[in-house]
Amino acid sequence: MTDLGVAATPWLDACASSLRRAGVTVHVHMLPAGEAAKALGEVERMWEFFGGHRLDRRSAVVALGGGAVGDSAGFAAATWMRGVPLVHVPTTLLAMSDSAVGGKTAIDLPAGKNLVGAVHMPAAVVADTDTLATLPDREFRSGFAEIVKCALLADRPRLASLAADAPRLVARDPAALADAISFAVGVKLDHVRGDERDLSGRRALLNLGHTVGHAIEREAGFGTWLHGEAVAAGTVVACRVAEGEGLSGPDVTDAARAALSAFGLPTGVPESLRVADLVERTRADKKSEGGRRRMVLPRREAGAETRDVPDAALESALRKG
Ligand SMILES: NC(=O)c1ccc[n+]([C@@H]2O[C@H](COP(=O)([O-])OP(=O)(O)OC[C@H]3O[C@@H](n4cnc5c(N)ncnc54)[C@H](O)[C@@H]3O)[C@@H](O)[C@H]2O)c1
Repeated sequence: MTDLGVAATPWLDACASSLRRAGVTVHVHMLPAGEAAKALGEVERMWEFFGGHRLDRRSAVVALGGGAVGDSAGFAAATWMRGVPLVHVPTTLLAMSDSAVGGKTAIDLPAGKNLVGAVHMPAAVVADTDTLATLPDREFRSGFAEIVKCALLADRPRLASLAADAPRLVARDPAALADAISFAVGVKLDHVRGDERDLSGRRALLNLGHTVGHAIEREAGFGTWLHGEAVAAGTVVACRVAEGEGLSGPDVTDAARAALSAFGLPTGVPESLRVADLVERTRADKKSEGGRRRMVLPRREAGAETRDVPDAALESALRKG
């Protein structure tokens, strides 16, 4: 399964031909590019394709592409015959460092993103940083938001080293990229292990920056801001809320902001969005309980915790930019 367009077809050819050389029978099915891949109609087309090629439990689905292909093809693999093996071959920085690991698969409904899905752990994840060569600059840079978030969550000194390494990373240096990606994957796995189904609160810490990030994405209109860009701005707001709550200090906010800026990512909420609308939007976040807004906030020394955040505290953090 793939959605790679003309610029990236070499990666599809390389993947399919290396499997064929190894004696594997390969059938290729294309998905539409980006979020459009995460539609129920596309999953139905995949099921029909699987049926047409008699895919059984000894077969595997290979999801070659960004997070959208991984989520959609992953859901098709999770549901076909109650689950067939899935191999992720991520080709965006976000997919390599975040979405291809952890087992979440999902499609979108008109009522919202990722509303239908399954937890289906991949049998393998094969990430080749060479494939990032064709990724457009904006998509590429936005992938660093989740890596910076992982540093804020689990390794504070790394915030400064990421900022220092930014020129090499932005130049797509393979060794620097491999190091940053494996760091983020390690942090993600550490939070997923033991809480695959997001029940104990450990996995939920990975949502740092996402409460306000999702609100920005929705208020600005999906696609206006890339996910990573919205998460970058949301991460700075979470740092400011933590400061206001006495949980963290300005040094933590400054270090996060410096790391995000080094990748050219936004560190403030767009002026075109109204603070009151964002405050309202965050109430509908999936972490909210009984109308109370729950946000993941960084702690002063290390780590993060989930806390109730009243309107006034979020409003004041949003007004600080
Ligand atoms: N399952 C999870 O845990 C998880 C975590 C985070 C995000 N997500 C999901 O991931 C999706 C976003 O993923 P994304 O940021 O990778 O975007 P994407 O999958 O939408 O890909 C962005 C664009 O880049 C193109 N592309 C992919 N690889 C390329 C390459 N190497 N060269 C050129 N073009 C390439 C795609 O065709 C697409 O047009 C969202 O749907 C989000 O909900 C899932």
